[in-house]
Amino acid sequence: MARIRFDRVSKRYPNGFVALADLDLDIADREFLVLLGPSGCGKSTTLNMIAGLEEISSGELRFDDTVVNDVPPHRRDVAMVFQSYALYPHKSVYENIAFGLRMRRHDKAEIDRRVRDAARKLEIEPLLERRPNQLSGGQRQRVALGRAMVRQPQAFLMDEPLSNLDAALRISTRAEIKQLHQAMQTTFVYVTHDQAEALTLADRIVVMREGVVQQIGSPDEIYEAPRNTFVAAFLGNPPINFLEGTVSIGDAGAVFTRGDIALALPEVFLPALREQGGREVVLGLRAEDVLEEAGSDARRLNGRVSSVLPVGSDQFLGVETSGGLVFLRVGKDRRHREGDTVAVPVNTGRLHLFDKASGVSLRDGLVSAA
Ligand SMILES: Nc1ncnc2c1ncn2[C@@H]1O[C@H](COP(=O)(O)OP(=O)(O)O)[C@@H](O)[C@H]1O
Ligand SMILES: [Mg+2]
Repeated sequence: MARIRFDRVSKRYPNGFVALADLDLDIADREFLVLLGPSGCGKSTTLNMIAGLEEISSGELRFDDTVVNDVPPHRRDVAMVFQSYALYPHKSVYENIAFGLRMRRHDKAEIDRRVRDAARKLEIEPLLERRPNQLSGGQRQRVALGRAMVRQPQAFLMDEPLSNLDAALRISTRAEIKQLHQAMQTTFVYVTHDQAEALTLADRIVVMREGVVQQIGSPDEIYEAPRNTFVAAFLGNPPINFLEGTVSIGDAGAVFTRGDIALALPEVFLPALREQGGREVVLGLRAEDVLEEAGSDARRLNGRVSSVLPVGSDQFLGVETSGGLVFLRVGKDRRHREGDTVAVPVNTGRLHLFDKASGVSLRDGLVSAA
């Protein structure tokens, strides 16, 4: 193994609540797959099913070609790292890491070799005799990783392993988890509600909402071509701007209109728009999709600056437009003041467009698949 396949898997809790609905997912051997979504969307439920900690209500889960629905956790050859680390408080770091191997009756020399090897990789060798309460959060997290590593599992399952760390440590530990994946050469399934973490770590991301998969794709695919407004809004910081309006199609192509805003739309939206002209839409504009150079009128967003927020490398402008307030990221050399009237050049090739009623993307190639 470690290809992991969900075939129409659902989870209905005894109280009738459906936490996961008809999940189809094929996780490749050695893939780094991230389950992403807001709290309560079913990420942990999904991960716990792989670990065998949660019963499957319907559908089939396979490791390679074997259905594992009824295989108990200890026979699944997967290792799980929890947010809480779940370390034994009265055991040393060494014993915490060694524990799983002792339970499996590996011989002493082999255990020692694996524990020291993991400790070296994680740079916690000097801590082996300490107890968990003598460690920082980051160090405890490494011990939890070490305990999973020594098992040499077929798959690594991680449930928000970084969420107890402070912001700086979270970012540096991300890089280490990525290196760990490369070193271990095994499948990783990683749960997070942090979109930045998902974009950094994943080969593929599964975006979930209320137990239903919204989109599966590479970080680029999900960010560049979100399938609906939920995915578009969940990925990116600050969140994407949405403007409601209508579309008119002329000789020059399709144009989004709202009040005094008229923005040329990318051709990828034309097939869907031609089918049903004049429909109500939601335009998606990411803060960074503005240009330094002034373009034609069809590429500018008019408005009045309502806030200027410098963030060191650049600055965010709050701009009141006839479609509402939008946030844009512009170079720090631009001199703007609150109250200024601006016509910000927009990178119209990167605009997103959604059907207003359904929230589904009108991007060609996504429409039918949605
Ligand atoms: N034992 C249970 N009984 C009923 N509902 C549950 C149970 N465990 C979890 N849930 C519900 O299932 C949903 C998904 O939970 P979970 O998978 O833990 O979400 P996530 O990890 O994405 O935050 C939540 O709405 C949660 O309240
Ligand atoms: Mg969870």
